[in-house]
Amino acid sequence: MTRPAIALLLSAALFSTAHGRTFAEIKASGTLRIATNAEFKPFTYFEGKTMKGFEYDLGNAIARQMGLKAQWINQPFDSLLIGLNQNRFDLVISSHGITPERLKAVDFTAPHYCSGGLIVTRPGGPKTAAALKGMTVATQVGTTYVAQIEKVAGARNVRVYPNNTDALQALMSGRVDAMVNEKFYGLEALRRSGGRLVQGSMLFQERLGMAVAKGNTGLLGAVNGALRTVQGNGTYAKLSRAYFGQDVRCK
Ligand code: ARG
Repeated sequence: MTRPAIALLLSAALFSTAHGRTFAEIKASGTLRIATNAEFKPFTYFEGKTMKGFEYDLGNAIARQMGLKAQWINQPFDSLLIGLNQNRFDLVISSHGITPERLKAVDFTAPHYCSGGLIVTRPGGPKTAAALKGMTVATQVGTTYVAQIEKVAGARNVRVYPNNTDALQALMSGRVDAMVNEKFYGLEALRRSGGRLVQGSMLFQERLGMAVAKGNTGLLGAVNGALRTVQGNGTYAKLSRAYFGQDVRCK
């Protein structure tokens, strides 16, 4: 191999590490690698060995719109954005709130839905932000809920769990007073609890976006374009109604 060729290869490798695969590289491969934390019904979750959910269907629709096949990777929630910048996947779709802090590390698409954090408790437990003061509250590690709970319950009362199933279990078994989680995840948990859990109020609102590696503007533009298309042609509305009974896009 010639010296310029080696130099080119090296810089291409470096470029890939810093910015993720370019859209041209992804197109050439034919596959969009999408990572998520798939224990988050109804967004991404497993039924047996099959991944399902609103974000799963939306991600597939977006990939299809870009002329690509989606390849899904299931990861712990708190390793998703790190993995992006290590170029282990191209896109993260996992209900990430778009925050100034995260924007320092990754780039976000336009929000793919709007939602927020819901308080869920047992009968007789704290149902409002004010009532959470001094109460123990469970949530998932690395989420936007942690800081919001700290504000109302006090930092030492937050109980973080590696995944939501554990946070929910802590609430069901009485080890914590309440749980704060994504609104639709909480409503799903309520439905399945057979009256053992009750719904509290919304703690805060947020805009949820898909993430690409910092500086991957080509891919970001392509995903935003595909999102606009599926939001315009009825695909998004149909999925949203099927999963939530309403259109969850940001107004
Ligand atoms: N919306 C919250 C956040 O931005 C939680 C997202 C959790 N997602 C998941 N797939 N477990 O941090």
